[in-house]
Amino acid sequence: MGKILVTGGAGYIGSHTVVELLNKGEEVVIIDNFSNSKKEVLDNIKKITNKDFKFYEINYLDRDAVEKVFEENDIDSVINFAGYKAVGESVQKPLEYYENNIGGAVILLETMKKYNVKKFVFSSSATVYGNPEKVPITEESKIGGTTNPYGTTKLYIEQILQDLYKSDNTWDICILRYFNPVGAHESGLIGEDPKGIPNNLMPYITKVAAGILPELSIFGNDYNTKDGTGVRDYIHVVDLAKGHLLALDKLNKEDNGIFIYNLGTGKGYSVLEMVETFKKVNNVDVPYKIAPRREGDIAECYADPSKAKNELGFEATKNLEDMCRDGWNYQKKQL
Ligand code: UFG
Repeated sequence: MGKILVTGGAGYIGSHTVVELLNKGEEVVIIDNFSNSKKEVLDNIKKITNKDFKFYEINYLDRDAVEKVFEENDIDSVINFAGYKAVGESVQKPLEYYENNIGGAVILLETMKKYNVKKFVFSSSATVYGNPEKVPITEESKIGGTTNPYGTTKLYIEQILQDLYKSDNTWDICILRYFNPVGAHESGLIGEDPKGIPNNLMPYITKVAAGILPELSIFGNDYNTKDGTGVRDYIHVVDLAKGHLLALDKLNKEDNGIFIYNLGTGKGYSVLEMVETFKKVNNVDVPYKIAPRREGDIAECYADPSKAKNELGFEATKNLEDMCRDGWNYQKKQL
């Protein structure tokens, strides 16, 4: 079988997926332009796996450079992690987000078409469900009503993939809607390392625990949830990474199609539960204050994970303690 092209393979979810692919003995080609990642990640992937891969430092908007990758390698399938992902920034810079995320995906798909590579796994997000009518969220739930351009890029790319499949049903596409990926590889060598002040809960907590930031602001304690704080479906990034291998198995085995799966644990935890678990498991303090709600946030979001379980055999194995322990282990190694 040919190689697997991983765009954004130096990023948070991409790097963990590359580790799992290499551990399984797959041949991997990574493209990344380090827009939100570091070169050391590539060395650390090699340290963890003791395996090598081909790497190109290119921007996926550079069509000629992307074509060269397909020219030089026998690519069999593509996993597209590349993309901007900061919700707040996307509100400030919508055109950059639409150009990069959608433009990049279109160039990638056009190049795949040119080289007759038709297996594609796309990193989508639970954000496409907008404000869900009910939880847990199934894949049949209504999509749309995204509250920021980042989320809208995911929604539009999903639509582009549907249109593409309609035009040519020899494509084989898997859309994975991630819930809230957290934690890190247990080696502590790769993890989530956002540039600047983190937007997401877990990296913010680890930076407060490390004393880099003074305190966590909990955005609202008056939601209609178990303790008033927001509830999310946190999933360990290594579990999530393994979901991509199962998605590829599906594309390699079955008849062609376009498939959509939620990747979550099915369990919802509140912000306060997350903070308390982090403190207990790691025996560190995380000072916090209650702050106003953050615009665009929803009260509750968690997956019905049964479709991925039934059709892919996917099941998250790591619990909230594992996520907190591994997230902190990674942060400590960055100090
Ligand atoms: N939160 C805080 N304080 C913080 C950061 C977050 O209280 O400093 C709270 C939020 O209000 C929310 C929860 O922690 O209740 C989780 O917030 P995150 O920012 O970690 O995650 P979101 O659920 O807002 O967004 C995430 C991803 C998006 C993705 C979305 C899908 O960041 O990329 O899940 O639902 F689109």
